[in-house]
Amino acid sequence: MHFSLTHNAPQSIDADCLILPVFKDAKAKDPQVKLPSKVAKILNDQLQLGNISSDCGQVNWLFEVKECTVSRLLVLGLGPFKEFTSEKAVNALQAAAKALLQKPYTRAALALDGLASDGMDEHQWIEQATLAFHAATYQFNAFKSEKTAAKKPTLKSLSYAVSSDTLKTGQKTLDYALALAEGMSFVKDLANTPSNYCTPAYIAKVAQDLDKKYTSLSTQVLSVTEMKKLGLNALLAVGQGSRQEPKLIIVEYKGAKKASAPIALVGKGITFDTGGISIKPPATMDEMKFDMCGAATVLGAIKTAAALKLPINIVAIAACAENMPGGNAIKPGDVVTTLSGQTVEILNTDAEGRLVLCDALTYCARYKPKVVLDFATLTGAMVVALGTTMSGFFTDDEALANALNAAGKKSLDSTWRMPLIASFKDDLKSNFADFANIAPHRWGGAIEAAIFLAQFTQDYRWAHFDIAGIAYLSGANKGATARPLPLIMQYLQHYTDEC
Ligand code: BES
Ligand code: MN
Ligand code: ZN
Repeated sequence: MHFSLTHNAPQSIDADCLILPVFKDAKAKDPQVKLPSKVAKILNDQLQLGNISSDCGQVNWLFEVKECTVSRLLVLGLGPFKEFTSEKAVNALQAAAKALLQKPYTRAALALDGLASDGMDEHQWIEQATLAFHAATYQFNAFKSEKTAAKKPTLKSLSYAVSSDTLKTGQKTLDYALALAEGMSFVKDLANTPSNYCTPAYIAKVAQDLDKKYTSLSTQVLSVTEMKKLGLNALLAVGQGSRQEPKLIIVEYKGAKKASAPIALVGKGITFDTGGISIKPPATMDEMKFDMCGAATVLGAIKTAAALKLPINIVAIAACAENMPGGNAIKPGDVVTTLSGQTVEILNTDAEGRLVLCDALTYCARYKPKVVLDFATLTGAMVVALGTTMSGFFTDDEALANALNAAGKKSLDSTWRMPLIASFKDDLKSNFADFANIAPHRWGGAIEAAIFLAQFTQDYRWAHFDIAGIAYLSGANKGATARPLPLIMQYLQHYTDEC
């Protein structure tokens, strides 16, 4: 889809369909899309008559509106201005995209001039509309035959009718939104690919393809032999029950001077999590192909940074393995020596994410990172704690927490700070190793996992994101969401100086 900016007035836009956002019972002082009086009258009459509704997310079609060059209007309800929030804007945009894509139109326009309000200026509208329309046209047909594949949408372009100021400055916003949207499609494609295709070697190949595509990226893949030599035994232990060899994938992005310390992004890349010998129950086990969403997200982030030519250095590390039961699999009670030198008793082979991450987190210290962020579908307990709308993050670094909260808010990719409760370390006591990989009880499982990771992150500033609840959807809309890529890109673009 092609996105563009224009300063044409709504009545003289050249398109098949014009989206007109309207507030409910708008007062004169409320922000409103600038409309010629004749069109405003038609709209008001229809609203008064109750033929159309301006409740939030309501989509109403008006045809044959002769007063505009575009005779088809999609009147998009935003609800009362007093109750308006950025989240509601996103919901309304998603509803508009869904409705519009059901029509056979090819060119649409969205009227924004005059709409700007607190927290939702024209730039935010451009960004969120681009993400909403891009996501609505996303399809994953790689494994469908022609018969069952979703039909390609007819919509080819969306043009934003903005103020003269935004016409001058908005292209940068649009470029950012498009790079982010494309990054999200990249993450979704990788995460949606089933585990019989998406193996650690496959992810490595995807990372090597990025290296070929962007001169600012360089990829290195550590094999089993190399990892053995270095001592990444926890990561290797997780992968040893599988026919698929584990890989540590490292992608470096250079957008600043060589000496400038990189931001490290570390991702959990379990291409399938059966639980291993501590095997999972069968219900919804297919969703464990999404257990590599952390890895997909960090690769998506570094790709997007390269596309945007961000003026920073980044290193993305994906810790990839398949967690399988098998003749060579790790067993409860086995002890491994991690790269850090600390030993871990593996009491439950299903707590494997923390094992691949602990070695990747130790490994990343060699890059002398300014900040380390890790992303992992780490615990079911995280989903219990915050549900499926917010990621949870853990850090003891106040400035970093503020920056991450701000980035989450600005990108509308919401997150919530969770506590790192140091005393939980006592629950990881082991009679046979330095500590165990699980606690003897279920309580506070997301925090327990974070405390485990904290044993490996003493040498740098660090935050851990548990994305088990937000990385993918279950049920009828099953599929990867590519979250929290919007938060990460917002952080990388605006907050790396502050903290
Ligand atoms: N990949 C799972 C976590 C998960 C669960 C992600 C549900 C998405 C949805 C992880 O490897 C796991 O199995 N964690 C265990 C830890 C437990 C054994 C301490 C869990 O959460 O049950
Ligand atoms: Mn597991
Ligand atoms: Zn897992």
